[in-house]
Amino acid sequence: MPLSIVILAAGQGTRMKSARPKVLHALAGKPLLQHVVDSSRALEPEQTLVVVGHGADQVKAAMQGQDLDFVLQREQLGTGHALQQCLDQINPGNMVLVLFGDVPLVRAETMAAMIEKTRDAALCVLSWTPQNPFGYGRIIRRQQAVHAIIEHKDTTPEQQAIGECFSGLMLIRGDRLKSFAAALKNDNAQQEYYLTDLVGIAVAAGDTVAAVVCDNAGEVTGVNNQLQLAAAEAEYRARQVGALMDGGVKVSDPQRIDIRGVIETGKDVEIDVNCIFEGTVVLGDNVRIGANCVIRNTSIAAGSVIHPMTWIDEAVIGREVNIGPFARIRAGTDLGDEVKVGNFVETKKSSVGRASKISHLSYIGDTEMGAEVNIGAGTITCNYDGVNKAQTVIEDGVFIGSDTQLVAPVRVERNATIGAGSTITRTAPADKLTISRTKQVTIGAWSKPVKKES
Ligand code: UD1
Ligand code: CA
Repeated sequence: MPLSIVILAAGQGTRMKSARPKVLHALAGKPLLQHVVDSSRALEPEQTLVVVGHGADQVKAAMQGQDLDFVLQREQLGTGHALQQCLDQINPGNMVLVLFGDVPLVRAETMAAMIEKTRDAALCVLSWTPQNPFGYGRIIRRQQAVHAIIEHKDTTPEQQAIGECFSGLMLIRGDRLKSFAAALKNDNAQQEYYLTDLVGIAVAAGDTVAAVVCDNAGEVTGVNNQLQLAAAEAEYRARQVGALMDGGVKVSDPQRIDIRGVIETGKDVEIDVNCIFEGTVVLGDNVRIGANCVIRNTSIAAGSVIHPMTWIDEAVIGREVNIGPFARIRAGTDLGDEVKVGNFVETKKSSVGRASKISHLSYIGDTEMGAEVNIGAGTITCNYDGVNKAQTVIEDGVFIGSDTQLVAPVRVERNATIGAGSTITRTAPADKLTISRTKQVTIGAWSKPVKKES
């Protein structure tokens, strides 16, 4: 049966105490709602409807270009009311899976298990037993079968003792949906139209209601406040780190690593404590990452070592490269094999050829550097005249003495040597020593100042 997915994302999220719509709060670097969309893709739905309301324009803008159909819920009168807004757009021949934009970590496998279970039922709910059921809808069972869901605010004290709760995921046969939804009422504590009432309505109509019980609490935790957001982040982190370690990566402390995106790793990779990985990061065989590194959208080839306190963003790093400690590799940096970048070096939009060394205290920007170049300590490419950026070219085998300024646009030709302390503004010819500094003099008639008597 074809599948329609409805994601409820119209609520304000008052408990987040934030101006941003709740479903746009970031978990592992991407909006909560994006997690839900991404996981549900694996089910290959025929359509995905996203119900928006509070901050609708902002939510739509954040989620554009993803083949989603947005449905506006002008007034947020409850989760059942949100689903009602979609009825005209749903083919009765479809299965309808309702997901909550604030329940971000459900795996596609769990959603698929619900589809499997709904074969001969009209409706299926995903339940679980949280550590603290406060605030969640309680599952009422009669002779094992799911009979109703009672919202926390509507429960009796006896019902509050029930541990099994509704996760927010519900699957409904499209041919029953319209009649069920038409029966929703708002005569409850919150005067809302509850999605959860569909269960009692289906039971009253003589239909079978199925349930899938999720035994992984972290998967279905809802995000209603900052504490739950942090808990979801921890769950996401644990899941990612678990996958890394399953793949053979040596992680010094699984509690002290953050993966806010996707990480691909080769064999025998080692990651020390307090590293943050964002976006897409690829680490080749035997790569070692020292403590306190931040690495974003970067690939690092086999055998390279990143020493502690290094920041790398949007870069391509070759094999057997050594970077850091305390290096900043900015966007557009491309380091060849066996390159060395040492402490307090910043690179940007630059390519560095094989086995070149920039060992200490340098800025290399908008530069094309050949192989086996040696850049002395404190060398700076002056790539900006206050208005425009210009290129520096340093050819193979060049040796640049310490504390040199290369004023771009400028070229240093093959095997040239630049004397320490030079300011280079014109081409430095191949194989020659070029030097630009005032001559050293010693002043004979000088004597040390003496302290005045007061
Ligand atoms: C809901 C369930 C509760 C369940 C819990 C699981 C209902 C009535 N209650 O409670 O049984 O245990 O989730 O996390 O369904 N939304 C709209 N339009 C609205 C109201 C809400 O789109 O008018 C969206 C919200 O943006 C959110 C989702 O629906 O993504 C859930 O709404 P929320 O208010 O957080 O429901 P809970 O109180 O958490
Ligand atoms: Ca919620």
